[in-house]
Amino acid sequence: MEKDINILAIESSCDETAAAVVKNGREVLSNVISSQIALHTLYGGVVPEIASRKHIEKINQVIEQALAEADKKLEEIDAVAVTYGPGLVGALLVGVAAAKAIAFAAKKPLVGVHHIEGHISANYIEHPELKPEFLCLVISGGHTHLVKVKDYGVYEILGRTRDDAVGEAFDKVARGIGLGYPGGPKVDKLAKEGNPDAIFFPRAHIEGAPYDFSFSGIKSAVLNHLNYCQMKQKKIVPADIAASFQQAVVDTLVSRTMRAADEFGFKRVAIAGGVASNSAIRQAMSEACEKKGLEFYYPSPIYCTDNAAMIGAAAYYEYKNGVRHGWDLNAMPNLPLGQR
Ligand code: KG4
Ligand code: ZN
Repeated sequence: MEKDINILAIESSCDETAAAVVKNGREVLSNVISSQIALHTLYGGVVPEIASRKHIEKINQVIEQALAEADKKLEEIDAVAVTYGPGLVGALLVGVAAAKAIAFAAKKPLVGVHHIEGHISANYIEHPELKPEFLCLVISGGHTHLVKVKDYGVYEILGRTRDDAVGEAFDKVARGIGLGYPGGPKVDKLAKEGNPDAIFFPRAHIEGAPYDFSFSGIKSAVLNHLNYCQMKQKKIVPADIAASFQQAVVDTLVSRTMRAADEFGFKRVAIAGGVASNSAIRQAMSEACEKKGLEFYYPSPIYCTDNAAMIGAAAYYEYKNGVRHGWDLNAMPNLPLGQR
């Protein structure tokens, strides 16, 4: 039997300070997340400088708690993993510095992980049977990527957003209809009370790039609708706006994903990232996959949002592939997704 590999993973790319211990890439021994949402809500979005400072305050405590909850001492850890990009540079730096210091002091290998690879790998945690190849739609506050997962650590990006990420569009629409930050979960909830066919919002298509996305048009269409209603003194129905906006987003995401599954002959489809918690997206994607006889995978909400367990899952396969980073590992705010 192979020896178990326990990885201490750290994530601090945006506004969650997180640490986890993951065994053999699939078994989460602990998953600690310290969220800064309440703090950034005051400003209606993430303030990078505040995020960095909060990470510094929290990181050691979160790491200690992750080790304690996993009932592991540092000596029992096989490697230290950390998100080193993409993300907010100051925020990333805190995690990278902490991981380097711990790995150096405890004489453990250091494994840097790509944040999106982490989101994709969140699907491994609760689906032991899931292995590459599969198609993964990564939808979060910072990213909208349709990715071919060719092997562990080997990715091909089929499409990406040309402007706003889908989570950003959710957050801006939420702000427009007065729901506050973070808007995604609030739009999701309110949409359940609205009519998705009440208002038609555009579904953008990009000539010659069938798998790319654009969400700035739909965001503007929602804001224009609000202005129009105010000018004409028409009644604004936030639930209908939320439902109609969400329906347009769902149609766009599902149609692109299904087209790619058909064209490339995928049998398995996964979603990942904060927006993958959205109930309408989960339902529509699940129905579309069932119609085509495809297996559909999605993580529990706790593994959709930024967390370190997903970084530990991704790091296990990187570690097995011999990836080791040096003490010169740096935060890379625009790190491209790996194509080993
Ligand atoms: O993955 P994540 O936690 O952070 C990034 O890496 O960006 O994603 C956060 C995004 C936010 O834009 C939030 O509004 C959105 O995910 N989100 C949702 C839902 N839950 C979170 N969007 C739509 N529906 C939801 N239920
Ligand atoms: Zn994320």
